Order: sequence, then structure tokens, then C-alpha cells
Amino acid sequence: MLKESQIYLCIFFLLAFGILYEFSLEPGCFFSCKPVAKQLVMPQDVLSKGRSIIFLETTDHLQPPPLVLCSVESAARIYSDRAIFFFMQGLNNSTMTDFKLTSPSLSFLSAMKNVFLFPLEMDILFQDTPLFRWYHQVNATQEKNWVYIISDAIRLAMVWKYGGTYMDTDVISIQPIPVTNFLAAQSSQFSSNGILGFQRHHWFLWDCMVDFVQHYNGAIWGHQGPHLITRMLKKLCNLTDFNNVEDQTCHNISFLHPQRFYPIPYTLWHKYYEVWDSKPDFNESYALHLWNFMNRKEKRNVTIGSNFLVENLFRTHCPTTYQSLIQAAQRSKQMSQNKTSPLW
Ligand SMILES: *[C@@H]1O[C@H](CO)[C@@H](O)[C@H](O)[C@H]1NC(C)=O
Ligand SMILES: *[C@@H]1O[C@H](CO)[C@@H](O)[C@H](O)[C@H]1NC(C)=O
Ligand SMILES: *[C@@H]1O[C@H](CO)[C@@H](O)[C@H](O)[C@H]1NC(C)=O
Ligand SMILES: *[C@@H]1O[C@H](CO)[C@@H](O)[C@H](O)[C@H]1NC(C)=O
Ligand SMILES: *[C@@H]1O[C@H](CO)[C@@H](O)[C@H](O)[C@H]1NC(C)=O
Ligand SMILES: *[C@@H]1O[C@H](CO)[C@@H](O)[C@H](O)[C@H]1NC(C)=O
Ligand SMILES: *[C@@H]1O[C@H](CO)[C@@H](O)[C@H](O)[C@H]1NC(C)=O
Ligand SMILES: *[C@@H]1O[C@H](CO)[C@@H](O)[C@H](O)[C@H]1NC(C)=O
Repeated sequence: MLKESQIYLCIFFLLAFGILYEFSLEPGCFFSCKPVAKQLVMPQDVLSKGRSIIFLETTDHLQPPPLVLCSVESAARIYSDRAIFFFMQGLNNSTMTDFKLTSPSLSFLSAMKNVFLFPLEMDILFQDTPLFRWYHQVNATQEKNWVYIISDAIRLAMVWKYGGTYMDTDVISIQPIPVTNFLAAQSSQFSSNGILGFQRHHWFLWDCMVDFVQHYNGAIWGHQGPHLITRMLKKLCNLTDFNNVEDQTCHNISFLHPQRFYPIPYTLWHKYYEVWDSKPDFNESYALHLWNFMNRKEKRNVTIGSNFLVENLFRTHCPTTYQSLIQAAQRSKQMSQNKTSPLW
């Protein structure tokens, strides 16, 4: 009698744990409901679902600075039902096996459920696009703007092939972008290419890639980047100046108002590294572009306790990155105390 009830009890617990386990699985399981090891997932398996958010690192660096980590983390939080891709030139099958060894800062990103880190395989990427021939003819070592040029090329091919949204790694996401096919106005009548989104195989991106190759001039900065997007858009539509905070549309492509991503224009980029009297809510913006390019000489950073706008953005939109900065600050404080305190 006692034995029987023990068996029933056992079965009950097994069932209960089974059910609990089912529910503890990701509710949205958008790419696969089976817990497949992420290392075994191939980019095309997930990318082909579209709607992904795509980030790039076209240098060999495997230790991304805090702003890059924040950019990816904030997107992963805002777009929790989509796959976030971070393609890195420095990754390959050997460096990818253990991020804890190769890059501790990447290991927290790769642990996020919807974040995928992949090597950049350009040969495969450019196949079946107008960029393939160009890529095999150009001599990268002779191009002084190569890091920018190749990045401009990759984002066009990537979004054309798979669909989704490309973002620069100095963009902090704060709310979801409500449209699929869009370009970001940096100012009236000027489009950036730092953030753009399209459904798969959209003709606009194909036309951009054709123009990229036809009018290629690596010596002019941005010629294949924002200037390309702007001239292609202007060929299609007569852009007008923006009124209030209203977006424009051109052949069903939304041309999003500068407030959406650039509420602080590049001339005022320092504002991100200042204390603000009142806390801005950026409620008309989907993401904030922090103009890292402008910061390349001064190399301003997020300093814990500064109360700068950027620190508050980190605290709110990428709390894990922020926590790791706090820990790093505490460690270096300890270290300097250990140095100054006598050993006896
Ligand atoms: C993988 O990448 C690392 C760092 O970028 C590099 O040192 C290594 O040689 C690469 N290994 C292979 C097999 O390509
Ligand atoms: C990396 O590994 C995958 C799967 O094992 C393989 O298909 C791919 O060709 C490898 N890439 C390189 C650059 O070795
Ligand atoms: C590319 O340019 C470099 C430097 O000018 C030269 O040494 C190299 O041979 C060129 N490579 C090709 C494939 O033409
Ligand atoms: C722009 O406006 C001009 C003058 O109104 C017109 O001739 C031209 O066709 C328009 N271009 C486009 C792309 O709509
Ligand atoms: C825009 O989209 C609508 C609805 O999807 C479609 O009916 C219309 O033809 C499209 N217009 C252009 C210019 O592509
Ligand atoms: C954003 O805030 C401003 C003022 O605080 C308000 O006028 C505006 O309607 C808000 N916009 C949105 C999209 O909520
Ligand atoms: C941030 O900048 C400050 C001032 O320029 C510098 O002292 C500090 O070492 C920097 N911190 C990091 C983590 O780079
Ligand atoms: C500094 O000293 C403390 C106490 O002696 C020790 O626990 C800590 O690990 C040291 N920190 C570093 C960074 O060396």
C-alpha cells in the first residue's frame, strides 16, 4: 500500500516537473522550440526567417567596446521576439568555440537567447549579388577607406539577401521601429545608411548595389554609403523638407524623420557626454545614434557616476553592459588601492 502510493507520488512529480520544464522554455520560441545548441545553428537557418536585426564588425577586433555591447544588448531587449545577429570579421570556427577564453565580453552577448554571433563570410554573402564581381576585383590594401567601404557593401547585400534591419554598433535601441521598409533621414533630404530596414529581395537595395558597382569611387568617403542611398532615393522621389515630426514615404519606403534616430545631430554629439538638467525621454525616437565616428579622437567613454546622458542610457537600455562597467570600475579602484596601501 505504502509502496504503491510512493510510486504514484513519483509519477505525479515526474509529470509536474515535465510540465514545469515545458513552460520554462522560451514562450516565443521563434526560431526553434527545441533547445538546439547555438553553435550548431547556421546563419541562413535563422536569417531566412527575415525580420532580423543585423550588426557588423568589419575589423578583426574581438573585444568590442562598451558602446558596441550596449548597442547589441539594447536591440536584443527591445526586439526580444527577433533574432539579433552580430557578424564579426575576427570570428572563425576556432575562436567561436569558447568565448569565455577568446572574449569574455562576447560571452554575455552570446548567452542572450536571441543573440547569434557569426563569422563574416563575404565570399558566400556576395554570391548572387551585383557586388560579387566588384569584391573580387577590388584591391583592399589600396583602399584607404576600406573598413567603411566593405561595411557599406555588406549591409546592402545582407539586408537584400535575408531581409531585416541593419544597425550601426553605436546605435542604442529604445523602442521598436514600427515599419519594415525604411531609410533614416539624418537631416532634411539626406539619408544615412547607419540604420536601414527592408524585406527580403527588395528592389531598392538591388538598385543600390548596381549603382555601387557602376559608380564606384573608393577615394570619396561615403560615396558608397550615405551618399549612395541619398542619390538613389532622390532619383525616385522629390524629397521635401520635413514638417514637424512627420515621416515621408517614397514608393512605399518610409523616410523616417531625423528625430527617429538622430534627435541629437552630429554637431552636438558632445551632448551625450554631458549632464542634462532634465531627463529627456526621446519619445519620438526609436533608437539613438551616438556618433562614435565623431568621438574617434577624444574617445569619450561611459564613466560610472558621471550622470552623463550616456550613463543613464546605458543604465536603462543595456543594464547587463552597465553592470559589467560597474564591476570593472570597482576592480580598478581596488587595484589602485592595493597599489597604494603598504604591504606590511
Ligand atoms: C581565427 O581567428 C583568429 C583571430 O582572428 C586567428 O588568430 C586565427 O589564425 C584564425 N584561425 C583560423 C583557422 O583561421
Ligand atoms: C566552419 O564550420 C562549419 C560547420 O562545421 C563549416 O560548414 C564551415 O565551412 C566552417 N568554416 C570555415 C571558415 O572553416
Ligand atoms: C594589391 O595592392 C598591393 C599594394 O599596392 C600589391 O602589393 C598587391 O600585389 C595587390 N594585389 C593584387 C591582387 O593585385
Ligand atoms: C521632381 O519634380 C520635378 C519638377 O516638379 C519633376 O519634373 C520631376 O519629374 C520630379 N521627379 C521625381 C522623381 O518625381
Ligand atoms: C505600396 O503598397 C501598397 C499596399 O501594399 C500597394 O497597393 C501600392 O501599389 C504600393 N505602391 C508602390 C508605389 O509601390
Ligand atoms: C512626446 O512628448 C511630447 C512632449 O512631452 C508630446 O507632445 C508628444 O505628443 C509625445 N509624442 C509621442 C509620440 O508620444
Ligand atoms: C574613460 O575616460 C577617462 C577620461 O578620459 C579615462 O581616465 C578612463 O581611463 C577611461 N575609461 C575607460 C574604461 O576607458
Ligand atoms: C586587493 O586586495 C584585496 C584584499 O587584500 C583582495 O581581496 C583583492 O583581490 C585585491 N584586488 C586586486 C584587483 O588585486
